[in-house]
Amino acid sequence: MRFENKVVIITGAGSGIGEATAKRFSQEGAIVVLAGRDTDKLNRVFSELSSNKALVIQTDVAIRESVKNMVDETIRHFGRIDILVNNAGLYVTGDLLSVSQEKGDEVLATNLNGVVNCSYFALPYLLKSKGSIVNNASVSGLGADWGGAYYCAAKGAVVNLTRAMALDYGSQGIRVNAVCPSLVLTPMTERFGDEILQHFDSRIPLKRAGKPSEVAAAIAFLASEDASFINGVNLPIDGGVTASNGQPNFN
Ligand SMILES: NC(=O)c1ccc[n+]([C@@H]2O[C@H](COP(=O)([O-])OP(=O)(O)OC[C@H]3O[C@@H](n4cnc5c(N)ncnc54)[C@H](O)[C@@H]3O)[C@@H](O)[C@H]2O)c1
Repeated sequence: MRFENKVVIITGAGSGIGEATAKRFSQEGAIVVLAGRDTDKLNRVFSELSSNKALVIQTDVAIRESVKNMVDETIRHFGRIDILVNNAGLYVTGDLLSVSQEKGDEVLATNLNGVVNCSYFALPYLLKSKGSIVNNASVSGLGADWGGAYYCAAKGAVVNLTRAMALDYGSQGIRVNAVCPSLVLTPMTERFGDEILQHFDSRIPLKRAGKPSEVAAAIAFLASEDASFINGVNLPIDGGVTASNGQPNFN
């Protein structure tokens, strides 16, 4: 029960890692704000939480007014914010020329500007509570993927934003960290198909995809007092992918 009555905002909480994170914080006593665009998905997660100390707020993280409303509603209901989990994200496959600029803009607006927007509006309250931010970046922000230009650009920016914010707000008692998952089976990746998933298995030393609950556990750790001296870290949750220097496996 590390988060008894702590107010935790989780974006993209209607599926995948965000859903697992909402369930983890709820199990540990938190008041959970489920933020996302699709209220049907959010209401389903709400109904499966272990406690009814929760609130659904329809939010598009790419739109500033929508994020301001998310924060205002959270304060109106609960009076404080202790933890912000910037999890909402979109994936698009393709090199720079093969992705339409509209789609590319949407990826940057969600995966990067979304983190900026939510942090911007939540920070005044996090400064009061001496709270913590955990971003969901990716191993795609630590090194690049073939055919993932926009996604890698956004996630790389989130990785360095995490460091910059850790520097700027650490002295005011706020910790900012990120998780960097490799392949995790969620609605985002389930459509990849068996062949692509097998390629991933060949590159992941643990020989399997991650589970949303395994990323949620790391997010909860970074947000908790167990991580009280951890600030500015981009933690790979990757079964060992980033332990490789990229050279081929002959064994
Ligand atoms: N699944 C993986 O392999 C993997 C690996 C590394 C990082 N990630 C990151 O984890 C995060 C969660 O992804 P997931 O794998 O759980 O996929 P997911 O598609 O299940 O979850 C993403 C959620 O974000 C929501 N969302 C998208 N755009 C939004 C917006 N503008 N405003 C509010 N909500 C929005 C979606 O509705 C969805 O519920 C993403 O940031 C993703 O980039 C995932």
